[in-house]
Amino acid sequence: MSLPAPELLTQPAAWLAPARARLLRQVGVARRQRVLDLGCGSGAVTPELVRRAGGGVIALDRAWQALAADPAPFAGASRLGADAARLPFSAASLDLILAQFALLWMPAEAVLDEVRRVLTPGGALIALEPDYGGLIEAPAETALREIWLAALARAGAEPLIGRRLPGWLAARGFQVRVELLPELAPAEAARFDFLRDLPLTPAERAAVDTAAARDRGLAGWGRLAHLPVLLVTATRP
Ligand SMILES: C[S@@+](CC[C@H](N)C(=O)[O-])C[C@H]1O[C@@H](n2cnc3c(N)ncnc32)[C@H](O)[C@@H]1O
Repeated sequence: MSLPAPELLTQPAAWLAPARARLLRQVGVARRQRVLDLGCGSGAVTPELVRRAGGGVIALDRAWQALAADPAPFAGASRLGADAARLPFSAASLDLILAQFALLWMPAEAVLDEVRRVLTPGGALIALEPDYGGLIEAPAETALREIWLAALARAGAEPLIGRRLPGWLAARGFQVRVELLPELAPAEAARFDFLRDLPLTPAERAAVDTAAARDRGLAGWGRLAHLPVLLVTATRP
């Protein structure tokens, strides 16, 4: 699958900024010495980690073109092209890992084994990951949840990563805390563009076009499209 356009990633990153800042504060980001932006993409979150971490930040992504397209967001960080399922770090060598809309696209259980291996005792994973099964959409003519679920699975993603992640982490001995965003985000027309980037059948593509056209005629709270994002903090014992 092609990489999401950077502008499709900055908007969710901005929407999640207050929650992310709170989670980072809770784990004491300012005293963390080796911090990893896991599946960093085009670096929507990297500058924030560079600004707030007590030590060095590594931005890692499998797609070198994401890391190389625009170097500006990676200023002050090291860039690393690598597979998250085979992290090129020694055991107990990182003390904070952040994954945002990233585990969704990865073989998550294999990646979590690696996360556990490379974190120091007391090290933390912060994951902000969606659950497309919990999409809240209105009115009904704009609801596309079933298409999201099918298309993401077809693209190799795990659309229910949000609900699966806490159990997978607990099974690996992590102490887990899970929160949800307290506020519903306004519906964004950009969600249709993101969906159109996924592998769709012709019938699904037509349904997306119809829903998008209907959505264009609505304003304010007359339309709703809320994607629940699970805010997970997992601490390695
Ligand atoms: C939706 S982007 C999220 C980017 C960024 N975290 C953000 O919030 O904007 C997911 C990223 O995960 C990367 N990715 C997927 N599988 C990977 C793997 N096995 N190892 C490393 N990166 C991977 C993709 O290349 C992509 O850049």
